[in-house]
Amino acid sequence: MKNLIDILDITTEEIDALIDTANDIIENPGKYNEKCRHKKLATLFFEPSTRTRLSFEAAMLDLGGSVLGFSESNSSSASKGESVSDTVRTVGCYADIIAMRHPKEGAPLAASFSAGVPVINAGDGGHNHPTQTLTDLLTIKRECGRLSDIKIGFCGDLKFGRTVHSLIMALTRYENVEIVLISPEELCIPQYLKDILRSQNIKFTETRTMESVMSELDILYMTRVQRERFFNEADYIRLRDTYILTPEKLEDAKKTLCIMHPLPRVNEISTEVDVDPRACYFKQVKNGKFIRMALILKLLEVK
Ligand code: CP
Repeated sequence: MKNLIDILDITTEEIDALIDTANDIIENPGKYNEKCRHKKLATLFFEPSTRTRLSFEAAMLDLGGSVLGFSESNSSSASKGESVSDTVRTVGCYADIIAMRHPKEGAPLAASFSAGVPVINAGDGGHNHPTQTLTDLLTIKRECGRLSDIKIGFCGDLKFGRTVHSLIMALTRYENVEIVLISPEELCIPQYLKDILRSQNIKFTETRTMESVMSELDILYMTRVQRERFFNEADYIRLRDTYILTPEKLEDAKKTLCIMHPLPRVNEISTEVDVDPRACYFKQVKNGKFIRMALILKLLEVK
């Protein structure tokens, strides 16, 4: 693995190894705090972020390395018309590894051709978000004890939700995974993903309400309706509050349910749910740093 652009760039064995390393970092953080001394991570964020950028930066700092970069395209020469290719070729002269977020699908892949150092896709448009998927897999493994034999419901904006797309692709690799897609018709997953699920005989169903399936789920993966991807504000306003998870809606849910959300949230999970022991979304936030530490070590080939 030289870059991480798509979750399918890595094998299940490599994912297992990254999860093992992340768990070891959680147990023995002191073992890792000099591993990347004199190494530099560049975070190139052409789109806003809180968790992904800061967890990458915290990950590199906790490995003893340094960080540089920008958090909006306006503060880089992209605002003067510089291409992604020239930007990353430049940054590759200063940094050992690049984490990049961009609103255009495919931009991190294009960047990987000219960077000269490993490139990590930190989210490209409505396409993919592989490091969120690694975070999600680590969280599922730690909370449920397994990645196989699960029934997972994805709820909300499944059309534009890149975290959903990447996690579905990853889960196609595990045994006996059943997927429930909970969305309004206008926000259902792209056809190409349905085709992949059918071709791989992954059991999936579609429904419009979370209440109808709540009692069956091992994992409920909530998502935000993404205002920034809509062409029409009126459509966003009409759809944004379709699903709001409240304590009442969890009355029939399993005691072992794992409630996930890549965050940021807007209204789709009531803050009253935060104190429910099944709420795992802030555990996901913490796990994000540890799995990104494991990924940086792997891509820099640091033992
Ligand atoms: N989950 C996630 O990608 O969050 P940010 O947009 O804050 O990075």
